[in-house]
Formats: sequence, structure tokens, C-alpha cells
Amino acid sequence: MLDSGSRRLMDEIIDLKKQKDVFLLAHYYQRPEIQMIADYVGDSYAMALAARDCSQSTILVAGVDFMAETAAILCPDKTVLTPEPLATCPMANKVVIEDIIKYRQEHPDAVIVSYVNTPAEVKAVSDVCCTSSNAAKIVAQISPDRQILFVPDQHLGSYIAEKLGRNMELYSSECPTHQRITAEQLDQLKEQYPEAAILVHPECPKEIRDKADFIGSTSGIIDYAVKSPYQVLIIVTESGIMHSISEKCPEKKAILASEELICPNMKSITLEKIHYSILNNETLVEVPEDTRIKSLSALEKMIDWTSRDTG
Ligand code: 13P
Ligand code: SF4
Repeated sequence: MLDSGSRRLMDEIIDLKKQKDVFLLAHYYQRPEIQMIADYVGDSYAMALAARDCSQSTILVAGVDFMAETAAILCPDKTVLTPEPLATCPMANKVVIEDIIKYRQEHPDAVIVSYVNTPAEVKAVSDVCCTSSNAAKIVAQISPDRQILFVPDQHLGSYIAEKLGRNMELYSSECPTHQRITAEQLDQLKEQYPEAAILVHPECPKEIRDKADFIGSTSGIIDYAVKSPYQVLIIVTESGIMHSISEKCPEKKAILASEELICPNMKSITLEKIHYSILNNETLVEVPEDTRIKSLSALEKMIDWTSRDTG
């Protein structure tokens, strides 16, 4: 239940957005009250396209830093703001840029595929980006005789490698939030709700993915929740997604697999910070121009390859 203070703040943000020509772009892991007033809520791929295509002069990104940077890389003529510059992705931050440069030098013919969950500097030395929604389609378009380094999520990487039967070298990083569930917890839930489908994000480890009825990005999970015949759903990804699932299929029983499935960085963004950010035009997200140009190439390739009809 939202208190009257939150409702007032939400109304003020809605007015301010109009006055200041701001597009509020949010990820599904954001707090429900933020998703409720966003102009667009999506997964990380859809957010990138929505940023690129919006008509407003300013984009306020309610998501972690790599999402805001992606908007800044794709939209050099727009002002991109973050309400919380410290909202980051620990998995992305674990990438050591020197490792990638060294790999490139040692394997000049290899293809470096970077998950969007990377800093702009890493995208700048990568060949192509991907998200969890298009990773299989991207990797499938790389010639089988090319070696691949997949950066940085070892779990998404191993899922794609398994799915395509393709050998890939995997960088060793992972999302701390998606490790906060055990196979035993899932077994217990399945015992309690035998009729339920288990929906899992590919950032989860293999022993969790192996129990899934469906594996997909946040938008893939929502889509499956809405369209599949299952009436009971066990959701294995960050808690924020429960808002959109309950909005889009209120008649179904959706159960978050664990109350621990919280990304503290996503949740560090609040209505108060969004209000302050729009009012004061802060904090500007800037990517140095040479890095922007180089990282744009990997992002544009992702968008191009995703849009191809590969049959
Ligand atoms: P999606 O692209 O599936 O929304 O995932 C983003 C993310 O950070 C998952 O942890
Ligand atoms: Fe990064 Fe995990 Fe948070 Fe997504 S949920 S932003 S991968 S820490």
C-alpha cells in the first residue's frame, strides 16, 4: 500500500516530467511505485531501444549504471540522467579491462561478446554486445570456426553454450542476486506447489536452471507468465518483476522463489531521488567520446543482428 507522501511525490514527478520534457525509463527490477509512473518499463534490451527511440530531450534512467551508460552511448544528442550514480552492477564491475585487452592480443581472430552488463570501456573493446533476451541469437550468428570469449556472466554464458552446443570461453563473474536461491529451496516450493511452473532468469547457476520449465530474460519471463497455461508460477529472478507479473496476469498465483532475491543497487533508486534528479537536472551520465564511439559499434551490431530474420 502506498502512503499519501509517496502518492504526492508520484504526482509531482509526473508533472515535472511533462514540464521538463523527461522520459522516465525503468527496469522491471525497480520498486513498484517507480514502475507505476515510468514512461517505459522493460528488460535491458527493450530499455536500450526505448531510449534510442524516445522523443523527449532528457532521459532519466531508473536502473543501474550500465543501463544509463547504454542510453548515453545510443543518444548523444539527449541529456541522460541517473537518480543514483552509485547504483551499479557488481557483476559488470568485476571485469578487468586489461584481461580483455590481453585476450584480444593473444587471440586476434576470436570474437568478444559482451553482455550489456559491462562498463562502457569493456563494450569499447568488444566485438558485439548482447542481453539475456538476444544472446542465443547473437552467438548463433558467429561463424563456428571462430573462438568466442563471453564476458562477464559465466552462467548466462554456460546457458547459451549449452543451448547452442557451442564451445565458448567464459569470463568468471556472476550476479550476486541470482545466486541467492538454492536447489533445495526450489525443491521445497515445487513439493508445496506441484502444479507450478518454474520460471528462471539465465543469470542463475546451472543447478537452478536445470529445474526450470522456462528460462528467459525479464520480459521473456513476464511473457511466459501471461501466455502459458500455468496458473501457478514460481519466479526465480529479482523481486521487482513481481509488480509487472501481478499487473499483467492478476488472476494467476505468482510466487517469488525467495525473499532474498533483491538487487540492492536496483532498489537504491527511490521516488525521492527521482524527484530530486528531475528538479535539479542531476546526475549527468557522460561517456568519453572516444569510448562512446567504440562502444556504440558493439551496441549497434547487437541491434542489427537481433533484428535479422535468421529463420
Ligand atoms: P534483463 O535484460 O533480463 O532485464 O536482465 C537485466 C539484469 O540485470 C538481470 O539481472
Ligand atoms: Fe547486476 Fe544482478 Fe543487479 Fe542485474 S540483478 S543489475 S546482474 S547485480
